[in-house]
Amino acid sequence: MPVTGGSGWSRRRFLVASGASALGVLAAGCGSDRQREAIKATDPAVARREKQRRIAGAGRKVVDLVAGSVSLDLAGRVVQTVGYGGTVPGPEIRVRAGDELEVRFRNELSTPTTIHWHGLAIRNDMDGVPAMTQPRIEPGKSFTYRFIVPDAGTHWFHPHMGLDLDRGLYAPIVVESPDESADHDTEAILVLDDWLDGIDGATPERTYRNLVDQGGMGRMNGGAGAPGGMGGMGHEMRGSVVESMTDFGDVVYPLHLVNGRPPADPLTVATPAGGRVRLRLVNAGSDTVYRVAVGGQTMTVTHLDGFPIEPVETDAVRLSMGERVDVIVQPSSGAWPIHAVAEGKDGSALAVLRTSDSEATAAPNVGDRLAEHDRRLFDDTTAKATESAALKGGRPSRSIKLALTGGMMSYAWGINGRAFGKHKPVEIEEGERVQLVLRNETMMVHPMHLHGHTFALPGERGARKDTVLVHPGTIVSVDLLADNPGQWMLHCHNTYHLEAGMATELSYVQ
Ligand code: C2O
Ligand code: CU
Repeated sequence: MPVTGGSGWSRRRFLVASGASALGVLAAGCGSDRQREAIKATDPAVARREKQRRIAGAGRKVVDLVAGSVSLDLAGRVVQTVGYGGTVPGPEIRVRAGDELEVRFRNELSTPTTIHWHGLAIRNDMDGVPAMTQPRIEPGKSFTYRFIVPDAGTHWFHPHMGLDLDRGLYAPIVVESPDESADHDTEAILVLDDWLDGIDGATPERTYRNLVDQGGMGRMNGGAGAPGGMGGMGHEMRGSVVESMTDFGDVVYPLHLVNGRPPADPLTVATPAGGRVRLRLVNAGSDTVYRVAVGGQTMTVTHLDGFPIEPVETDAVRLSMGERVDVIVQPSSGAWPIHAVAEGKDGSALAVLRTSDSEATAAPNVGDRLAEHDRRLFDDTTAKATESAALKGGRPSRSIKLALTGGMMSYAWGINGRAFGKHKPVEIEEGERVQLVLRNETMMVHPMHLHGHTFALPGERGARKDTVLVHPGTIVSVDLLADNPGQWMLHCHNTYHLEAGMATELSYVQ
């Protein structure tokens, strides 16, 4: 079927249709292939676990939050999209570890939604996965999320409804540690995002249709429905030969944003001269892996997915979709680009780091990339969790093999050859320590994300992560402690792969 600019699919009709089928397959999934009784979100085990998180004397924070339509000004070009609290990203939530957070949420969208608290290992019934942990929140309706926030770190939240992940519905949530003293003078949270919604008629739905209809023909451009070019375009990398073959993403985005701003209108992070700046980086993109560097500066990586590591000095860091990296930079006097280049495609996002004594008025000039991008690239598999952040417990008692499968030809992404809905839940018992073996049998990278847990990368004191990038033809084995009963999504954080079914369920059973 040829893809035309004005296809007959209205956004609403598409969502209703896909929502209905998702529900259908979920119901089928619950009945099939189950050996033992699942511990559902409503099970007393979930409330019991929450009670153990309660700390005497801890605080409580109440936040009102609305999702609705937003006009977003992209350097003079105004697009209509959706967001939280009228802005993109939505307003940051800041809370202390151990506190109870109450978010009184109202859905003013024209479609149902939920909120997933990415990176927070909270009670299962507050995890925000429709049909799995809570009913969808219908337009005009409210829902109160209430949970104890367990761990400090840089996290974020977003809906868990299909392609809404590629709109403006995302915001940071920063959890402060009551016993971590600040070793920096200023901090900034920088949320990266690949943007197409509303530009030249592009929508996430149309982009997905293009990927499905024209899968295998090349890179997809969400705009006019034409393929952006044959495969191979923009694949040239400066890294190893293996990397030059790696497909990091298939959607061509017209813009890349930092905190909702395109490179033509960059955010400025102001810092005292000689001071230390903590940059909390979040990749809220849908199909773009970013490589971030700061012009003329080295940086020290201190946290991955919110959890502390033994600090590592580097020149560039890579973030796949869903990942967070915290770095410390101590800039020399001046104005420096914080430059996030899209791996394997054209385009980049930009912010400016400016010391208070800087006389520069214009934003620094950046070409395609900085010299720093091609120096030392931080490798999370070599990082060590700090003593206190290391995963507790002994050796895993068993391995669970998960093959990441599919390809561009049919756009049929899955796990162990099955799409979500036809998946076989990964069954686990509370207290088990297991190894998840993620094996990428495809040509593309997949950032694999697990809800409700923070696993450990391989090696002694491997870094704690909730999202890990698995490269084509490689295996990443992570250790997992089953300490949070319920039903949890385990999926690729590429929005379009997730929509195509690249997901399964970590299912506590009794
Ligand atoms: Cu960022 Cu299933 O989540
Ligand atoms: Cu994927």
